[in-house]
Amino acid sequence: MSSGNAGSAATLGSGARHRPTVVAHTGQLPDAGSFVTADAAGTPLLVVRQDDGSVRALANVCRHRGARVETEAAGRRKMFACPYHRWCYKRTGEIRSITFDDGFSGVPKAGLGLVEHPSAEAGNLVWVVPDRSEPSGLAVPAELARAGLVRGETLELDGPWTEVEARLTSALAAQMLTPGTFASWSRGWAEVITVRPAGARLDRAVAGFWLLADTAAGASPAAAGARWDERVARLRAVVS
Ligand code: FES
Repeated sequence: MSSGNAGSAATLGSGARHRPTVVAHTGQLPDAGSFVTADAAGTPLLVVRQDDGSVRALANVCRHRGARVETEAAGRRKMFACPYHRWCYKRTGEIRSITFDDGFSGVPKAGLGLVEHPSAEAGNLVWVVPDRSEPSGLAVPAELARAGLVRGETLELDGPWTEVEARLTSALAAQMLTPGTFASWSRGWAEVITVRPAGARLDRAVAGFWLLADTAAGASPAAAGARWDERVARLRAVVS
C-alpha cells in the first residue's frame, strides 16, 4: 500500500476521533470489576463493569504522572493500582489512595480520579467517541444483540488506516454500523469489526474483531477455533 497524502490522512485522522467506535463486547465484561483496555485513536481507555451493572470508560492515564494505570489487556480487579508509585483507583475511577503525593498534598481527592469518557452500550457493544462526545446514532441489528461472544481481540493490520478502512468498506459483505465499524451475520455466526488508527499513528491500523455465535445454535470449541482462524485470515487478506 502507498502511504497516501499526509494532509488528507491528518484530516481523516482527526475525523476518527469524532465518530463512535466499539471498544468492547459486553461478553468481555461479565462481572463487576471485569475490564478491558483499548486504544481509541490515541486515547488509552480502561473499560470497567461497575458494581451496579453499568459500564464506565475511563482514561487509562494516571493522574499522578500520566502512566498507564492498567497494563493488562483484560481481567477482573477490585481496584486499579498504577504500577509506578501505586496511586490506587476504585472501579468507578475515583481515587482511593495516594502513596506518593508530591505536589498533590493540597489537591482535593475528588479531583484526582481517572477521567471518564461518555460511553454507551448498544447491541451488546460498548461504544465511545475518542474526542469525548456522547456516542449517538447507534443502530445495531437485533441479530447481533441475540448472539453471544465467542472471542474478541485487537489485531494489528499493515497499512495506513484510511486505506485499510477503504478496503474493508469495499470488500466486506457487511453492514456499516458507523463509519469504520462493520457487522455481518449468517448461518448462526456474526462478527463485528471496528478499525481505527493505531494510537496516534496514521500509517498503521488496528481492528477490534469480535466473533459471535447464535446462542441458540451454540458453537463447539473446535468449530469456534476454526471459524476464528478462517475469519482472521480473511480479514488480513482483504487489507493486504
Ligand atoms: S505515575 Fe501513577 S502513581 Fe505515579
